[in-house]
Amino acid sequence: MSDLFVNTASKETILKDSISYKSWTLNPRQINDVEMLITSSFFPLKGFMTEEDYLCVLDTMRLKGGELFPLPIYLDVPKEFAETINISESICLRDPEGLIIAILKVESIYSPNKIEEAIKAYGTSDESHPAVAYLNHQTHEVYLGGELIALNHPRHFDFLEYRDTPTSLKLKYKKLGWEKVIAFQTRNPMHRAHFEILQRAAQDEDACVLIHPVVGLTKPGDLDHFIRTKCYKKIVQRFPENSAMLSLLPLAMRMAGPREALLHAIIRKNYGATHFIVGRDHAGPGKDSAGNEIYAPYDAQELVAKYEDEIGIKMIPFKMQVYVKERSAFSSVEEVGDNETALNISGTELRSILKLGNEIPEWFTFPEVSKILQEAYPKSSNQGFTIFFTGLSGSGKSTIANGLMAKILEKTNKRVTLLDGDIVRQHLSSELGFSKEHRDLNIQRIAYVASEITKHNGIAICAPIAPYSLQRLRARNLIEPFGNFIEVYVSTSLKECEARDVKGLYAKARKGLIKGFTGLDDPYEEPINPEIVVDGASSSPNTEVIKILSFIDTLNLLES
Ligand code: PPS
Repeated sequence: MSDLFVNTASKETILKDSISYKSWTLNPRQINDVEMLITSSFFPLKGFMTEEDYLCVLDTMRLKGGELFPLPIYLDVPKEFAETINISESICLRDPEGLIIAILKVESIYSPNKIEEAIKAYGTSDESHPAVAYLNHQTHEVYLGGELIALNHPRHFDFLEYRDTPTSLKLKYKKLGWEKVIAFQTRNPMHRAHFEILQRAAQDEDACVLIHPVVGLTKPGDLDHFIRTKCYKKIVQRFPENSAMLSLLPLAMRMAGPREALLHAIIRKNYGATHFIVGRDHAGPGKDSAGNEIYAPYDAQELVAKYEDEIGIKMIPFKMQVYVKERSAFSSVEEVGDNETALNISGTELRSILKLGNEIPEWFTFPEVSKILQEAYPKSSNQGFTIFFTGLSGSGKSTIANGLMAKILEKTNKRVTLLDGDIVRQHLSSELGFSKEHRDLNIQRIAYVASEITKHNGIAICAPIAPYSLQRLRARNLIEPFGNFIEVYVSTSLKECEARDVKGLYAKARKGLIKGFTGLDDPYEEPINPEIVVDGASSSPNTEVIKILSFIDTLNLLES
């Protein structure tokens, strides 16, 4: 197994030839995939899957040559780009700054059946599965397959001492004299239960420990890898010297449960691990839209058990661990006695502890890890948030938004920025009109600014018309990782807005002097599930402001 890099002389020749090649700029997931491919972390894959391999993998979890590989890996591109490409052509794959990472020798150009892919690879076509949502909304319609020639490693600037290839990591084991290595996969901060599992496995197998977290794309909403890596560094220090190490894996997870667990085992074999821990609901995406678990909790263990000999790695299965109060120790849930108290804290409960600024119990997390998490997650009242008003022109958004801003400033010392529709169009979007494309861009800009304000613990009050639900959803998705997103629908009816016509715009629009006016000849898609609905016509603005403030209070966002 060797990586896909060429020597310096060949690299120079290839770079000269590549001047005439077409280029494709890799998106974040594709950069992760290319890095895994060119370092041979995805061995036996030597490039993106051809159609034959892709179909075989979906049906049998094997490449057409028979090698085990459970998930499809392809380069997705738009139809317009694919139409300019011929079989046997070489393409430069570049990072967003233009650096050529690899050359793809195109062997296969194909249009997938995405529903079939979703059902076969992920076991569902339900979009609550993040990989299905990605497939439906972010994956381009044409796939390219072919071998890669690697020219440069994707650039990283963070935690360089923890970034390894399979070759460099195996060298590290050799230097340390490690023979047996237990790999631990994670995309979450590690708590005491994880440490205990690893310690126990290391003792039982007389082996060393590789903490091997995924730092490529993980499940949307996961804690970012900067915070997690700081936590892992603390955990490594808890093991006896030279018995544990940390290395970061640039994998883009698909949350594909059993199939993904199998892929994880293959990857760890490539990184020289001899053992691999598979816990409960490994790489599980959670529940589907009907509230059912997408995979059963121990499906992943069953599948890896079937193939561990073929892969050449020993699986160490673990049942769900809980803390037994009376024993002051962790135990698998099945071994808790009738008279004993089992304690556990779910990810959601942990987030709520952090939001309220409460202490994380010491039985759950080591104090040095708690400290990092508490700093990274300020309690709710220290966090930023966004109030996103939406409603027809003249519905009263600006009046209520201004009233709300004044009340928040009266009550707290927080910084508040009002991104009112008219103000934004003067300063941020002065060149934009009211076509669908321009309105989308306008909302994207507002959402971006609001997400930055929220990230820096400020308050953003946005008050555009924001007529299209997709853009409102995108704004929510952009902002929610940093703080609350509170959508306020100002539901004043068209009739009322037109009767008021404060700016005289409805009259102009009726006369045809303004085209594409929201509510008249351009649609307003009513919010389906806003946090708050206020009516700008039925009561005084102050009453509506108080209603919004009480909602904010229920979330403890403003207490001093
Ligand atoms: S959008 O759709 O969210 O980008 O619109 P927004 O930026 O909030 O609009 C700001 C103000 O532009 C005035 N205006 C129009 N509104 C709707 N449709 C058309 N064609 C139009 N042309 C100008 C309108 O007064 C909006 O202000 P508000 O404060 O909502 O009345």
